[in-house]
Amino acid sequence: MVTDVIILAAGQGSRMKSTLPKVMHPLAGRPLLQHVIQQAQQLPGARLHVVIGHGAEQVRDAFTESTHLRWAEQSQQLGTGHAVAQALPACQQDSTTLVLYGDVPLTPVELMQDLLRDAQQGALALLTVELADPSGYGRILRDHKGQVSAIVEHKDATDDQRCIREVNTGILAVSTTALQRWLPQLSDNNAQGEYYLTDIIAMAAAEGMPIQAHQPQFEQQVQGINTRAQLAELERWYQLQQAEALMAAGVSLADPQRFDLRGELRAGQDSCIDINCIFEGQVHLGQGVRIGPNCVIRDSVIGDGVRVEANSVIDGSHVGAQAVIGPFARLRPGTELAEQTRIGNFVETKKSVIGRGSKVNHLSYIGDAIIGSQSNIGAGTITCNYDGVNKSLTLIGDGAFIGSNSALVAPVQIGDGATIGAGSTISKNVAAAQLALTRAPQRVVDDWPRPQKRKQEN
Ligand code: UD1
Ligand code: CA
Repeated sequence: MVTDVIILAAGQGSRMKSTLPKVMHPLAGRPLLQHVIQQAQQLPGARLHVVIGHGAEQVRDAFTESTHLRWAEQSQQLGTGHAVAQALPACQQDSTTLVLYGDVPLTPVELMQDLLRDAQQGALALLTVELADPSGYGRILRDHKGQVSAIVEHKDATDDQRCIREVNTGILAVSTTALQRWLPQLSDNNAQGEYYLTDIIAMAAAEGMPIQAHQPQFEQQVQGINTRAQLAELERWYQLQQAEALMAAGVSLADPQRFDLRGELRAGQDSCIDINCIFEGQVHLGQGVRIGPNCVIRDSVIGDGVRVEANSVIDGSHVGAQAVIGPFARLRPGTELAEQTRIGNFVETKKSVIGRGSKVNHLSYIGDAIIGSQSNIGAGTITCNYDGVNKSLTLIGDGAFIGSNSALVAPVQIGDGATIGAGSTISKNVAAAQLALTRAPQRVVDDWPRPQKRKQEN
């Protein structure tokens, strides 16, 4: 069965007060439209059409990698019926069409499937919801048998009709041939002077076509975004769903209200996440990982039993089991830490491999380095990896001891078991077991008379 999915995304979204098209505003780190596309893509045999208008170029440019999308341009926003008509010529003759909104991001694919199943059996299926405050929405009219008979828009509704709390979500499915028959018959003779897609409900009823209404489990699943306030509210709801799913899978969250996942998080059992952490992209936590408060972790793999202390930022990194990171550590892309490593406060690492049990505990920059196991990198050690043009490598062996405040001028190699005296600037290789130090010798003056403060003259 071929399904054509038409996603309406041409509206301006003027209440966002933004230069960014509304459907490009992010929810959980992804544009609203991307959420809709990702759900619809899971429908077997679906062909996706996106109707764009306001900010058409910006929207299309953001999805250049999604080559399977078909774009339909609606240069003037003459209503939802008119919008669907723009994509209809590209739909397949014998398909079923599902209409979605680009600004309704959280409709689950299962709900779409429910509608499609009815539509494939010859019905018009639509998604409705009962709202405590239905104002602004199209109202669902039902006949004496309780069958849906029409939708009336808020602005066209009588006072009695406005008391109806069951509203149209805008999401519906029906055979494509029916749309081809009905859309040319729409008129704009209504309160808004628009071609209403909703007028097809009465046409279906007049033809005796069965009309099936479905309801979502949560009203947030059909919530459209018109304002930044609504976006923030839906974001919190979505985050809470993700938090609950993680807890159900065996992860402890100090406060599910203060948890943000903008991507995917896989986690082993008995990991604990303190408040205000943000996870982005693809993150994998092993078992029994402890993440302190205010950490940001992006596209990284964190091994079993790792402790990440407060205020650490980990990006594009691989942290081996039992390592301890932070507080206030920054692991940048290409950091690979073996088991039981220790990266302490105000340490920045980048594109570096650090071997088992090695420690960089305080105030260091380790970039473009390969460090063996059981080495100790003293406080304030800097790998001088950049000469202003080229990046060079620092190699440190196993069991090396780098004294505090050393500058290692790359390219340079420090052998196994070598020792660097504190405060050295090392620009030549140091062989295994050697001591190297470039510190100026200490001078001593006995009984040195300190300068005295001059007596004030008056
Ligand atoms: C529409 C429905 C209303 C329903 C409500 C749910 C109609 C006539 N009314 O209201 O019954 O309760 O959605 O939110 O269908 N769009 C276009 N081109 C247009 C007009 C709209 O692409 O010419 C897109 C918008 O970008 C948006 C969606 O269609 O994603 C809905 O438009 P919007 O103006 O928000 O909804 P209403 O027409 O007010
Ligand atoms: Ca409108």
